[in-house]
Amino acid sequence: MIIKTATFVKSSGKWQDCPEANLPEYAFIGRSNVGKSSLINAMMNHKDLAKTSQTPGKTQLINHFLVNENWYLTDLPGYGYAKVSKSLRKDFEKLITNYILNRRNLVNLFVLVDSRHNPQKIDLEFIQWCGESGVPFSIVFTKSDKLKPGEVIKNFENYKSELHKTWEDLPELYITSAEKKTGGDEILKFIDTTNDFLTQNSVSFDE
Ligand code: GTP
Ligand code: MG
Repeated sequence: MIIKTATFVKSSGKWQDCPEANLPEYAFIGRSNVGKSSLINAMMNHKDLAKTSQTPGKTQLINHFLVNENWYLTDLPGYGYAKVSKSLRKDFEKLITNYILNRRNLVNLFVLVDSRHNPQKIDLEFIQWCGESGVPFSIVFTKSDKLKPGEVIKNFENYKSELHKTWEDLPELYITSAEKKTGGDEILKFIDTTNDFLTQNSVSFDE
C-alpha cells in the first residue's frame, strides 16, 4: 500500500470521544516502550506523526491517525507500565479494554511484543484475554534490529511454541524494526487486503 496521506485526527481519553466509527480501524497495543508509536511513524514514513519517547508511558491517550482518507490507524497507551500508581494503571487498563470491546469499527488489533525477550506473562495474559473476548489480533515482534537475525528467528519460533501450548491456530505474526523500517510493509499489505475485502463485501460501519 502506498501511503498518500497520514494525518493526526485527535487524542481521546475514552472510547466515547473517539472519532466517528465510520471507517475500518486498526490499532497498535503492547507494553509501554515496546515501540508502538515508532512503528506507526516508520510505516507512515513520517518522523514524528506519533509521539515517541525513551521514557515508558509516553502515549497516555487513544490517538487516531487517518490514512489515505479511508482507514484509521490507532496508537493506544501501553499496558503494564510499572512506574505509575496502581489506580492510574487500572484507569489505563479500563481505557484500553473499553476501547477494544466497544469500538465497533475495530477490524484488527496488532499486539506488539519485544523480539528480544522470552514470552512475557503480561503479554501472554493480554493475548489470552483477546482470544477469550473474540478480539481479532495479530502479533508483531518489534526492535528486531537489536538482535542478530538468528536470534530473532529463535525467539520467533519460541514464541510460536509458547502460543501453541494454548492455541491450535496461531494468529498472523510479523517481525519488524522501526529503526530499519522493516516488516511494516507486510502489515500494510494485510490492512490493504482486509480493506479490499470489506469494500467488496459492502461492509459498512455506519449505524
Ligand atoms: P509508550 O507510548 O510509552 O507506550 O511507548 P511506545 O510503545 O509507543 O514506544 P516508542 O515508540 O515511544 O519507543 C520506545 C523507545 O524504543 C524509543 O526510545 C524508540 O526509539 C525505541 N524503539 C522503538 N522501536 C525501535 C526499533 O525498531 N529499534 C530500535 N533500536 N529502537 C526502537
Ligand atoms: Mg507510544
